[in-house]
Amino acid sequence: MGSWIDAGRLEMIEEPGARGFELPGTEGVPFFIVRKQGRVHAYRNRCPHTGAPLEWQPHQFLDMDNGFIQCAMHGALFRVATGLCVRGPCVNQSLQPLPVEVEDGRVRVDIAALSAAP
Ligand code: FES
Repeated sequence: MGSWIDAGRLEMIEEPGARGFELPGTEGVPFFIVRKQGRVHAYRNRCPHTGAPLEWQPHQFLDMDNGFIQCAMHGALFRVATGLCVRGPCVNQSLQPLPVEVEDGRVRVDIAALSAAP
């Protein structure tokens, strides 16, 4: 089941790097996709600390070293692979992960959880 959408070509996202999305089907709930070490991850763009979006400029979700996902608001750091916060005001809380897969060079994301999100 789920609600899979085509988010575009994988090569549109740098490796390592990230890209933010707000597609019509997400009802304005943004998400982002991260590439690192040959893997692709997708998360809702919402910091568990205050609910703020994470990026400090368009598509800038990673810290300077591309080591962690970083929240621009208060600097929380999240593991790329799991979304777990390891430093900052929301330690041990997590970003909301979204199922993601790559097929024929295109990234597909299941946004069903986004539509249901408060
Ligand atoms: S809103 Fe993300 S760390 Fe405070």
